[in-house]
Amino acid sequence: MLKHFLTVQDIPYSQAFGVLARAEEMKKVDYRSDLLAGKTIVLIFEKASTRTRISFDVAIRHLGGQTIFMTPAESQLGRDEPIKDATRVLSRYVDGLVVRTFAHSNLEEMRLYSDIPVVNALSDSFHPCQIMSDILTMKEHGPGLDKTRVAWVGDGNNVAQSLINAAIYFPFELFLSFPEGYNPDTNVIDLALKSGAKIYMTHDPVEGVEDADFVYTDVWASMGQEAEQKKRERIFAPYQVTEELLKHAKPECKVLHCLPAHRGEEVSEEVLEGERSIVWDQAENRLHMQKAILEWVFGNVDYSIYPVPARINPIGHLGPHVAF
Ligand code: CP
Ligand code: NVA
Repeated sequence: MLKHFLTVQDIPYSQAFGVLARAEEMKKVDYRSDLLAGKTIVLIFEKASTRTRISFDVAIRHLGGQTIFMTPAESQLGRDEPIKDATRVLSRYVDGLVVRTFAHSNLEEMRLYSDIPVVNALSDSFHPCQIMSDILTMKEHGPGLDKTRVAWVGDGNNVAQSLINAAIYFPFELFLSFPEGYNPDTNVIDLALKSGAKIYMTHDPVEGVEDADFVYTDVWASMGQEAEQKKRERIFAPYQVTEELLKHAKPECKVLHCLPAHRGEEVSEEVLEGERSIVWDQAENRLHMQKAILEWVFGNVDYSIYPVPARINPIGHLGPHVAF
């Protein structure tokens, strides 16, 4: 069966915990296999990347596959060849597409026209590979996902939206604090609330981080929003993750950042380099989770051997109190 991974929900609930378990197993043994032997995967990156690009490239090699890196600048995509045309052609040459793009609709279009798997390496709307990997990091560093409170502080961006998607599957509580007008997409929030995810929203970062096990932040201006940098610096200033803000979280609270970080903007130097920061472990886990995602996409794993918790998220728990 042809599988694509554009959002967390592309992995069925019944398999998501298995993918997580496989990433843990793979990490333990520094996993290698020949799953992708003879296969070639194109990495199409319309935006810059260090972690996602290299962890996918290395993961594919560790699974025995080959990669080709492609950007718009050096392909016809940069000269306006329609995505649907490039997708159909590449489908005839290679075995998979790992794609970082702007509009999420570009990925939807690729999915529609592709005969080979398409994996979202970040779009303006979602970053599911990042978040699956972060679930592993939170499992390793926290009190257990069902006892974990995560505080997202900052922009309601692609990473935040995938975290909200993850809260539909994984039983952590998610408190989001963001400035007015910088909320996650209301459709993303609605889906999570209807699914019983334990999400709660506020404009007050102090309230947002209260009793948090993890405080997670990301840049104020994402790739493609560079022109808004100065304006966003003003608006987001109260949302900087500092030692002062972290006094309101649990004493053992850990700090997450998907990286790259802008020290002195969304996070202070002291916090990023301090004892609470687990960002390097978080970045390492990208490699292990990419392997588990690639295995889900290309492999034939029987995930039924991994326990799946009953979906215990109570519908209507907490709920938003921010008006959009
Ligand atoms: N976190 C993340 O996706 O980093 P890159 O932009 O370096 O891939
Ligand atoms: N929100 C950031 C994430 C980078 C990994 C961006 O889209 O630029």
